[in-house]
Amino acid sequence: MNLGVLVSGRGSNLQAIIDAIEAGKLKDRIALVISDREGVQAIDRCVKHGIPHRVIKRRSFDSKEEFEKKLVEAMKGSGVDLVVLAGFMRVLSPIFLKEFPMKVINIHPSLIPAFQGMHAQRQALQYGARISGCTVHFVTEELDNGPVIAQACVPVLPEDTEESLSERILRHEHRILPQVIRWISEGRVRVEGRKVVVEGARYGTLPFNPELEDF
Ligand code: GRF
Repeated sequence: MNLGVLVSGRGSNLQAIIDAIEAGKLKDRIALVISDREGVQAIDRCVKHGIPHRVIKRRSFDSKEEFEKKLVEAMKGSGVDLVVLAGFMRVLSPIFLKEFPMKVINIHPSLIPAFQGMHAQRQALQYGARISGCTVHFVTEELDNGPVIAQACVPVLPEDTEESLSERILRHEHRILPQVIRWISEGRVRVEGRKVVVEGARYGTLPFNPELEDF
């Protein structure tokens, strides 16, 4: 597949995809990375690894519609098959989503439907959750609420800060995001209503992180 990745900042999930490709675990290529912000670490990663990238800023356009049309044009122009939101801090509207039906995935740092929206790790701490984690899901019009493809869970420890919990969750984001890309690339992912079926996925019996394949 030709992957299109949308980013806004650090890009550690982008790096996880790059690493999986460079390690031969993913057969896909990153056709284009688009950042809505200049000077971010995600762009430095593209430069370092020779990955095509562009900065497209919302404020360069009069409306969200025009901005999203530009994103679509750039993605289609690069032949993108699957769009990956990897720390993209904007909500996409149907203008974009209708062009890539069930072809947009997102990584979110909680077990959705818990703690949707911003600062998911802070929300988990403030709520007093004992377990949190991360989710890769299809993106629909409802924020952080599309069909779940994979989740991984981690304990929330009494001494946790937002940073320590984020770091523990992030390690699993970097594992399940490339894993899901591979599942989709291999044509093993099917959406049935709200549910996602992954052909031949192996599920372990460990209390944490049941979706143990080789990522
Ligand atoms: C991650 O925690 C991701 O789950 C959330 O935004 C953060 C992005 O981190 N959507 P990075 O830019 O991939 O390092």
